[in-house]
Amino acid sequence: MTQSFTVMSTKDTQFKRYTVTSALPYANGPIHIGHLAGVYVPADIYVRYLRSAGADVLFIGGSDEHGVPITIKARQQGISPQQVVDTYHELIKTSFEAFGISFDIYSRTSAPIHHKTASDFFRSLYEKGVFEEKTSNQYYDPEARQFLADRYISGTCPHCGYEKAYGDQCENCGTSLSPMDLIRPTSTLSGKAPILKETKHWYLPLNKDESWLRQWIVVGHKDDWKTNVYGQCKSWIDNGLHPRAVTRDLDWGVKVPLENTEGKVLYVWFDAPIGYISAAREWSEKTGNDWQPYWKSPDTKLVHFIGKDNIVFHCIIFPAMLKHEGSYILPENVPANEFLNLENDKISTSRNWAVWLHEYLEEFPGKQDVLRYVLAANTPETKDSDFTWKDFQARNNSELLAIFGNFVNRSLVLTQKYFDGKVPALDHLTEQDIKILNLIESFPEKIGHAIENYYFRDALNELMNLARAGNKYLTENEPWKLFKENPQRVETILAVSLQIVAKLSILCEPFLPFTASRLSDMIQLKGQCWPDAKKRVLLPEGHKLGEIDYLFEKIDDNLIETQIQKLHAIKLANKAQNQFQHNPQKDMISYEDFAKLDIRTATILAAEAIPKAQKLLKLTLDTGLDQRTVVSGIAEQYRPEEIIGKKVVVLMNLEARKLRGVESKGMILMAEDSNGKLGFVSAGNIFHDGSEVK
Ligand code: MF3
Ligand code: ZN
Repeated sequence: MTQSFTVMSTKDTQFKRYTVTSALPYANGPIHIGHLAGVYVPADIYVRYLRSAGADVLFIGGSDEHGVPITIKARQQGISPQQVVDTYHELIKTSFEAFGISFDIYSRTSAPIHHKTASDFFRSLYEKGVFEEKTSNQYYDPEARQFLADRYISGTCPHCGYEKAYGDQCENCGTSLSPMDLIRPTSTLSGKAPILKETKHWYLPLNKDESWLRQWIVVGHKDDWKTNVYGQCKSWIDNGLHPRAVTRDLDWGVKVPLENTEGKVLYVWFDAPIGYISAAREWSEKTGNDWQPYWKSPDTKLVHFIGKDNIVFHCIIFPAMLKHEGSYILPENVPANEFLNLENDKISTSRNWAVWLHEYLEEFPGKQDVLRYVLAANTPETKDSDFTWKDFQARNNSELLAIFGNFVNRSLVLTQKYFDGKVPALDHLTEQDIKILNLIESFPEKIGHAIENYYFRDALNELMNLARAGNKYLTENEPWKLFKENPQRVETILAVSLQIVAKLSILCEPFLPFTASRLSDMIQLKGQCWPDAKKRVLLPEGHKLGEIDYLFEKIDDNLIETQIQKLHAIKLANKAQNQFQHNPQKDMISYEDFAKLDIRTATILAAEAIPKAQKLLKLTLDTGLDQRTVVSGIAEQYRPEEIIGKKVVVLMNLEARKLRGVESKGMILMAEDSNGKLGFVSAGNIFHDGSEVK
C-alpha cells in the first residue's frame, strides 16, 4: 500500500486508511442503471479518487444471496436457491467488471467464510447476552408447512391501505412492517389465510441503544451526514426504537448457531452487512494483507455507499450490532442516494422498466464511460433524478464529444501536424496564457473537495469546466490560422493546451476510467496520480506523444430511437398484461354447453333494497312466461327507482339459490367493458321484423 497520502480536504488527515463498502445487491436478478447511478458509480468515483490521491483504500462489494425474494424466485422457477444465486452472482459480477467498478474484492454471502463470520458474530452477541429471547405466535401456512416470514405473507397496509403490502414492508408507502401489522393477511405460498403458531426468536433490543445512537447521529453527525440520511435517522430515533427479530423460521440463510434451532436462520438484514466484513477476510486470504485494521482501527474511515431504502439498516441496526460486538469501528459517513427514474417512471424489475447493464453492454459496446458519465451527471444526490435516452444522447454528443473529445483531439492532431507529435516549449507566455495556467491549477483541489464531500455532480461539472476552459482557449487562439506567420505563438498555445489535456487525463480517471487509460496512452503519460495534476508542466518540451484516436463518437438518432421504441413496447406489453390480469379470459366451452342456457328478455317490475346486504337488490321480473324474483348484486351501481321498467336479459334456467333469505330464480346478465365497468346487457336492440323493440 502506498504511504504518500495526500487527500485534499483537511478533515480527513486523522485517517490512515479507508474502508469503502457498496450495498450488496440481491442475487435474484440482473442489475440496472438505477443500481449503478445510486450506489456503484459514486462509490467507484470516490474510491478511484482516493487511490489516485495516494490513500490506502479497501473497496468492498459482493452479492446478497439470502432472503425470501431469492427462495420465492427459486420456487417459481423450480430450481434451488443456490442455483438462482449462482446465476445472478456471475451476471452481476461480470457487469460490474465491465463497467470498471474497481472492487478490491467482490464476494458473496453464500460463501463458507461468510457463514462462519456471520454465525461467529451472532454467537458473540449471544454470549454477551445482547439478545432478548421471545416466544410468540407467528403466522404459519399449514398447507406449505412453513412459517410466513417477510415476503411469504401479504395483506393490506395499515398505513396507506395498499392491498399488496408484504410482511416486511409496504412498497406503496415505504413503511416497514411486521407480519402482525397486516390487515387480512394471506400466505403468498398457498394464497390462503394463515394460522398462528408459536415460535421462538432472538431480538436485538434497539430500544436500549436509543441514547447512544441519538448522541452519535443526531448530535455527532448533524453537519457532516447528508440531509436525507440525517433526517431519516432522526425521525426513526424520535419515533422510538423497538426490539427487532434477527432470526427467522426459514431454511435458506445462515443457520442459527445454537442448540435446538433446526429450521431457523439469521435474518437476511442481520447477515448481509456482516458480509462486508466477510469480504474483507476473503480479500485478506487472497492477498495476504491483514484485514483487521480496515475494520477495527479507529484511524480507518468507514464509508457505506447505499440507496435510500437501506438507510436504517446501515445507520442504526448495523452500527448497533457493531457496537455490541465491541471490536469494530462505526461508519464515519453513509452517503445514501435517492433513486434514479427511467423516462419519468419508477424503475421496476417486475415491470421490466429498466435499462439492464448486460443489455446495454451488448447494444453500446465499448461505451461504458458514456453511461458512467451520464449517470454521474444525474446522480440522485438530493432528490430522485431521471434518466432519459435523449439526455444520454445529448450528453454524449454535446458534452463528451463536442467539448472533452473535441478539445483533446484538436490539441493532439495539431501537435502532430505542426510539431511531429512532440510537445513544444511552454514559454513566451502572454497574459492570457498565464491566466489560464493559473485557473487550471485550482481544479485538482476543487474536484477533489467535491468528491470528498460526496458532491459527484459538482465534481463532474468541474471536470467538464476544465475541458471547457481548454476548448475555449483553443478556439479563441485559433492556432490553425497562425502557424504560417507566427509558429512560435502556436508552440506556446499547443504547449498550454497539452498541459490541460494531461491534467484531464489524470482528473477524469475516477469518472471515466477507460477514457483515462486511452488518453494516457495517446499522450504517453503513465502512472500519474492526483497530486501530479497540480504541477504546471506535466508534459515537458520534446515529449513524444503516442498514437492519436478519437475518445468518443457521435451517437445517432436511430440508435436512440431504437431504445425509445424498446421502452415503448414494454409499456404497451405491461398495459396489456394489466388488463389481462384484471379480466383474464375464461376457458373455452362447447356449443353443447352454450345451448343449455335459456336466455330471454324480461322487464323489471319492482326493485327494492335488501336489509343489511349492501350490494344486493331484490328484483321482480316479468319474463313473459312468468313473474319471478331475482336477487342481483347491482346495488352499488344502480338505485332501485332508476331501473324499474328497464328491459334486461335473464338467464332463466339457473338453479334457484337463497341469498339473504330471499330465493333467487335466474340471473340478470351483466357485462364488463374493457375498463372493468359493469352494465346491463342491453335488451333494447332486438330485431324481430325490422323494427326496433324498445
Ligand atoms: N441487498 C440489499 C438491497 O439490495 C442491500 C444489502 S446491503 C448489506 O437492498 F449491507 F446488507 F449488505
Ligand atoms: Zn402502505
